[in-house]
Amino acid sequence: MKRDRIVIFDTTLRDGEQSPGASMNTEEKIRIASQLEKLGVDVIEAGFAAASPGDFEAISKIAQKVKNSTVCSLARALERDIEEAGKAIAAAPKKRIHTFIATSAIHMEYKLRMKPEEVIARAVAAVKYASEFVDDIEFSCEDAGRSDMGFLKEIISATIEAGAGTINIPDTVGILMPFEVGRRIKELHEYIGDRAVISVHNHNDLGLATANSLEAIRNGARQIECTINGLGERAGNAALEELVMALKVRSDIYDNVETSINTKEIYPTSRLIASITGIEPQPNKAIVGKNAFAHESGIHQDGVLKHKQTYEIFSPEEIGLDTKDTLVLGKHSGRAAFRDKLEKLGFSLDEEEINRAFERFKELADKKKDIYDDDLRALVTSQMSNISQTWELVALQLMDSTGGVPSAAVTIRKSDGSEYTDAGIGDGTIDAVFKTIDRLTRQHGQLMDYKVKSVSRGRDALASVTVQVAFNEDEPAVIGHGLSIDTMLASAKAYIAALNSYLSMAGMLKKRSDADNCSTV
Ligand code: KIV
Ligand code: ZN
Repeated sequence: MKRDRIVIFDTTLRDGEQSPGASMNTEEKIRIASQLEKLGVDVIEAGFAAASPGDFEAISKIAQKVKNSTVCSLARALERDIEEAGKAIAAAPKKRIHTFIATSAIHMEYKLRMKPEEVIARAVAAVKYASEFVDDIEFSCEDAGRSDMGFLKEIISATIEAGAGTINIPDTVGILMPFEVGRRIKELHEYIGDRAVISVHNHNDLGLATANSLEAIRNGARQIECTINGLGERAGNAALEELVMALKVRSDIYDNVETSINTKEIYPTSRLIASITGIEPQPNKAIVGKNAFAHESGIHQDGVLKHKQTYEIFSPEEIGLDTKDTLVLGKHSGRAAFRDKLEKLGFSLDEEEINRAFERFKELADKKKDIYDDDLRALVTSQMSNISQTWELVALQLMDSTGGVPSAAVTIRKSDGSEYTDAGIGDGTIDAVFKTIDRLTRQHGQLMDYKVKSVSRGRDALASVTVQVAFNEDEPAVIGHGLSIDTMLASAKAYIAALNSYLSMAGMLKKRSDADNCSTV
């Protein structure tokens, strides 16, 4: 039987980045886009070009790098937004502009302060203008879940006529039940026919984003917008891994559709996103949570030992999680074994990157007996995130704080090779370290969040520290990661990584706020 292709539209870099605390720097975004391409997603929504110069830069670089997936930028239904989107994606072999405007009565009246006919005119003008830059245009009816069906049909017809090839029906506030989504999509599918592809974009406010997207597919939707680990605004978006695995595991029901996703790249992609954003999926998260394949009760363990499928509906290997092979390398492992392991973990590095990673691996192996898959993932990911290094930590010495004043001596090196040393005190050891770094670099960081976790097991486990720091009150906080067996060293490295990220994006982080009479995302 001929199967319809479900277009997988990944918005981890746009809606996913709207998760509180999930901002990423340009290098991290490029790394994620390459991994999404490897995963096989059809469309990568790389960002919202007009939001800030930083977003624009990241999208342009992704457009230059990604060859197989379509690169897309979001744009409000405004000329300036569309122009920025068109310019940012210009270099991509396959490109799309995704423009939107709100269509629900509540949004039109209170947010846009526009009449329905003005909204239609604005949407049509936006789609027409987008066609000056690209052939592939998506139009979204923001808050479609609460929009009047008659009005939706009107604006959809007008925008298809103007040139939109994909019509997205978002449940922006995550309010719909699966049967309601099914009913709406069926009616719109009958109305639109083959004039455009119907897409859905479901938010997870009631925990129904995946169920709603699956119901949309049963009723004619052929594009699904989703994110890795279900990241996204508020409670997040439909999770790519859940959708793809549901379609695969229940192919008896979804026997008329298929996706292009290489499911073996799901787990590596999930780990990459978690380590870059510092947002771990909840342990019991479907498909990629730490416990997704853990069988705790005696009865279950007994069953699984006798026959895996008693309690396992798909194998961890299907998503690229190798449960048998987690103890990896040690001090005496060679370069070839190291390279082979990285490939198995889903990293495709060039020679220079492998050399740098191998050097770091050897340094680690001197201090840590067993190196696990998670250690390697963290090592390589942190190397990739810290490409633009203005500052580097050379040495850190801490004075005992028991009963005394916590103090730290720090030496750092600038990219031109000059070294600086200073010592300072603080309210606690971490405060002393961060304040001393501030003094040395003449910056003033406000620590917004601090997280430490052990990457693998054992007393010599690597500590992975993630900090979120605001260096300028007008700009969003940036994230930094640090990795070391020593938690304080990891903390200092994380703070410096955040500072480097801030400096590399200086002036580009500031989100544009304008008083345009249009939606903001
Ligand atoms: O949730 C939403 O409506 C969106 C649109 C911009 C597609 O993110
Ligand atoms: Zn959204």
